[in-house]
Amino acid sequence: MTNAAPHLYFCSALDKAEDWRSALAAHLPAFKMSVEGDDYDPATVDVALVWTIPDGLLARFSDLKAVLSLGAGVNQIDPSQIPAHVPLARLVDETLTRTMVDYAKAVVYRYHRCLDQFEKASNDARWMFIAPKATSETFVAILGLGQLGRAIAFALRDEGFRVGGWSRSAQPLAGIETFAERHGLTTLVSRADIVINVLPLTRHTTHILCGELFQYFRRGSRLVNIGRGQHLVEDDLLQAISAGILSGATLDVTAVEPLPPSHPFWHHPDILVTPHVAGLSSPTSAAPMVAHNIRRAMTGQVLLNQVDLARGY
Ligand SMILES: NC(=O)c1ccc[n+]([C@@H]2O[C@H](COP(=O)([O-])OP(=O)(O)OC[C@H]3O[C@@H](n4cnc5c(N)ncnc54)[C@H](OP(=O)(O)O)[C@@H]3O)[C@@H](O)[C@H]2O)c1
Repeated sequence: MTNAAPHLYFCSALDKAEDWRSALAAHLPAFKMSVEGDDYDPATVDVALVWTIPDGLLARFSDLKAVLSLGAGVNQIDPSQIPAHVPLARLVDETLTRTMVDYAKAVVYRYHRCLDQFEKASNDARWMFIAPKATSETFVAILGLGQLGRAIAFALRDEGFRVGGWSRSAQPLAGIETFAERHGLTTLVSRADIVINVLPLTRHTTHILCGELFQYFRRGSRLVNIGRGQHLVEDDLLQAISAGILSGATLDVTAVEPLPPSHPFWHHPDILVTPHVAGLSSPTSAAPMVAHNIRRAMTGQVLLNQVDLARGY
């Protein structure tokens, strides 16, 4: 066990170093945090806390012990920037999980209770009666059953929805029908009223939401994308909606963010765009796990939530 105070290097265009400094101070007795422009010796940096990694940055840190991502996904990090012996861990944060679950429930209920249809009717001053259904009449498919997908699946199951999920390993989960492999994916989406994508972006999942897969979707079903924009072939979604295969989509993530004002998604009557707000982490709630990983890095232990770089998540 080393007694040295860890030297952290913080780098993010999205997160505030001061917020993280004060959140970590509640869990680490002593540490030094440097940011770009500070006068520091790169050879003394122990742990990099990053959203993205500027080209060549980590090569200067000759004693680097770990890279800790400030995001739950790590697709924004170029793995070739990380020295081969240095582990990478992603962020797991209860605030992020709770906000993702809240968002998924809100979108599912909007479709389940036909609020999207009532919004359109209301804009036309049209009285349109649609009787409410029981939650057990709506089947929700979750693509990705990791930290976030599992929490969403359990929350929807507890609301009475029928829930199925797809992952690489298809582990059994109480009250959730689980599927794996390509056949499992096509079977699952063919049964679902609402498909929620919460996969990580890897070379295997890029453009997974495409016309070829939409052919298997249940007619009139809805797509919710809270994974990454590059999971979706955007033109294929527009075609699938025009063809009546899908009757709507809610997209929290898009290939280009912010979505340009001229993009056809903005004014599409069946598409709701939200500005990548489904889940947000909080330094205060994430700091215990990050501090724990800093201690593990300083003592040479395997990190919590360590990323398998070959697998990509
Ligand atoms: N919109 C937002 O605000 C927001 C916020 C945070 C995160 N996200 C996105 O959410 C993603 C998921 O986060 P997480 O913490 O739940 O990740 P995670 O814990 O790593 O879980 C990933 C899940 O995806 C499955 N998976 C990965 N590759 C697959 C493949 N090729 N085929 C089938 N299943 C595959 C994994 O299967 P196994 O269980 O078999 O390993 C696992 O169930 C992040 O990567 C990020 O892109 C979005």
